[in-house]
Amino acid sequence: MFNLQDIIRPNVLKMKAYSSARDEFKGSASVFLDANENNLGSLAGEKYNRYPDPHQKKLKERIAEIKGVQPEQIFLGNGSDEAIDLLFRMVCRPGQDSMLHLPPTYGMYEVSANLNEVVMDAVQLTKDFQIPVEEVLLHVKPTTRIIFICSPNNPTGNLIEQESIEDILRAFNGLVVVDEAYIDFADALSCTTRLKEFPNLVVLQTFSKAWGMAGLRLGLAFASEEVISVLDKIKPPYNINEATQELALQALERQEALQDMIEEIVQERELLMHALPTMASVEHVYPSDANFILVKVKDANRMYNYLLDKGIVVRNRSSLPGCEGCLRISVGTLEENQKLLQAISEF
Ligand SMILES: Cc1ncc(COP(=O)(O)O)c(C=O)c1O
Repeated sequence: MFNLQDIIRPNVLKMKAYSSARDEFKGSASVFLDANENNLGSLAGEKYNRYPDPHQKKLKERIAEIKGVQPEQIFLGNGSDEAIDLLFRMVCRPGQDSMLHLPPTYGMYEVSANLNEVVMDAVQLTKDFQIPVEEVLLHVKPTTRIIFICSPNNPTGNLIEQESIEDILRAFNGLVVVDEAYIDFADALSCTTRLKEFPNLVVLQTFSKAWGMAGLRLGLAFASEEVISVLDKIKPPYNINEATQELALQALERQEALQDMIEEIVQERELLMHALPTMASVEHVYPSDANFILVKVKDANRMYNYLLDKGIVVRNRSSLPGCEGCLRISVGTLEENQKLLQAISEF
């Protein structure tokens, strides 16, 4: 049976959250002399002299409506990378506890584990980049606290089978983090719809991809109220800045524009998926449910440098086990994609 209290680090259980000036005063006032702000104003623009809402109340309420969850089931981070780091700090005792990830996958799970001195176990995805569930469960140790599943997976682009995710959620008594950074480009239901069933489920999403807000740094974690309350307790008090909170609220009112953008990116992705296999230097194009495509080429390093010479930067993933010979190519604008295809055809 999963019991969050069994895996939270003892120091986290014991500690109290920082109580900010804005937490201690509730009500209305006209003179604020409680937070050592600059009351003369801001050089950056109106309002920015004040600390932002540490609980991001308005933003969470709006996200909750749109995503069909409760505001108490949402944690907002300075990018989802912050949520990844805080999850480690919440349940992994440095030097003792471990995590399990499924390479080839997103590199920050490993970086963040190393930073937090979390022991790392890895089970390679299968040839078609799915989860070998039995093998994963065999690798679970008494110290395993988190299993990371990235779906659609970066850098391979594919969705992970829902049944495998559920099998792991049922069999593992730690946190199962399903990273859905690219879910908006996939024809699939988000795991946020399963939060009630699985108290050990944490779903990560981000405003960096489909919403086009990578520069503002806003990531989301959806989980049980209990998990979220611990993340809130250990986060830096003002982790989401005022500009990001305001701009995200505005963006959330532009659902139609979001859908248009997603449609255009998916359409461009499909054009690339059809065109790339016809090129002599391309050996294989992996199916993609994301806004990028993993492409196996005849000579990845040479192709990478050749594209660089043409002013086109792609991601060389050829040194990752499971991605030998592969480049990861983000879907660009129509013009950018044509330029890319033209360059590859002339390679
Ligand atoms: C799978 C995955 N998760 C998370 C992130 C990080 O997102 P954020 O910009 O919200 O930190 C990325 C960024 O590339 C990603 O590929």
